[in-house]
Amino acid sequence: MKRTGMEYRYGFEPPGLPEDSLLRQHVLYRLRCRLYCMVAVLGTGRWEKTLRIDQSLEMQLLCLNHKAELFDLIEANREHLRKWLPWVDGTRSPADTESFIRSAISQYESGNNPHYAIFYGSTLCGACGFHPFDIKNGVGSLGYWLGHRYSGKGIMALCVKALVEHGFRECGLSRIEIACATGNTRSRRIPERLGFEYDGVLRDNEFLNGRYVDQAIYSMQASAFLAASPWHSDA
Ligand SMILES: CC(C)(COP(=O)(O)OP(=O)(O)OC[C@H]1O[C@@H](n2cnc3c(N)ncnc32)[C@H](O)[C@@H]1OP(=O)(O)O)[C@@H](O)C(=O)NCCC(=O)NCCS
Repeated sequence: MKRTGMEYRYGFEPPGLPEDSLLRQHVLYRLRCRLYCMVAVLGTGRWEKTLRIDQSLEMQLLCLNHKAELFDLIEANREHLRKWLPWVDGTRSPADTESFIRSAISQYESGNNPHYAIFYGSTLCGACGFHPFDIKNGVGSLGYWLGHRYSGKGIMALCVKALVEHGFRECGLSRIEIACATGNTRSRRIPERLGFEYDGVLRDNEFLNGRYVDQAIYSMQASAFLAASPWHSDA
């Protein structure tokens, strides 16, 4: 039996999808990622994709040019970050940061999740992005962090808002999740302020600093976002 493009890509043909469905949008996103990578690599050899948030804030698709600055920021904020992020203790040298960036690039190259470095003026102040997409179900989950001196300025709420917009409008996601350790009140404020729904707690869902911690799960659905979001571009 003849297989469609959707079956090749996803291993199944979703029944009754309209032409403009999120899944089709996701296929286009994957093609755009590959095209972008080809042009970036063949052209200048640099990765320049940028999401500008406002005059002082922008997010740049993570690339090897960010390696030194990113590692220095992690090094300078080790204690602040390790409290909530399980990967910090394993990031010991610029080579560790390089291998993280290389894996982020290859994920994006294969049409999957984007990671961004956040720039406040010309200074790299943190990072945010999606964990690998659950492609069959159209689900993306967000992660984020900032250097300590850049917290409390409203930077991350603006970046997450831009990522949500990107995830629904360009990546074709149907649901975006944010999982925060229940004790991480600062992080929980972000989805709460942006209008995510609180789905509940997953007990012992993350191994952090030698013990299991509960995670609060927040989510937003594309249908709700596209239909009623106050951020809707036509609103
Ligand atoms: C979690 C984290 C990213 C939050 O970043 P942040 O920039 O401080 O978060 P926000 O953008 O939401 O801003 C925080 C505060 O700044 C305030 N703020 C908002 N806009 C502002 C502005 N324009 N000027 C000044 N302050 C502002 C807000 O009032 C907010 O406080 P509130 O939630 O009590 O109202 C940061 O604390 C961090 O990196 N923590 C360690 C790593 C971590 O926990 N990562 C998440 C793992 S799940």
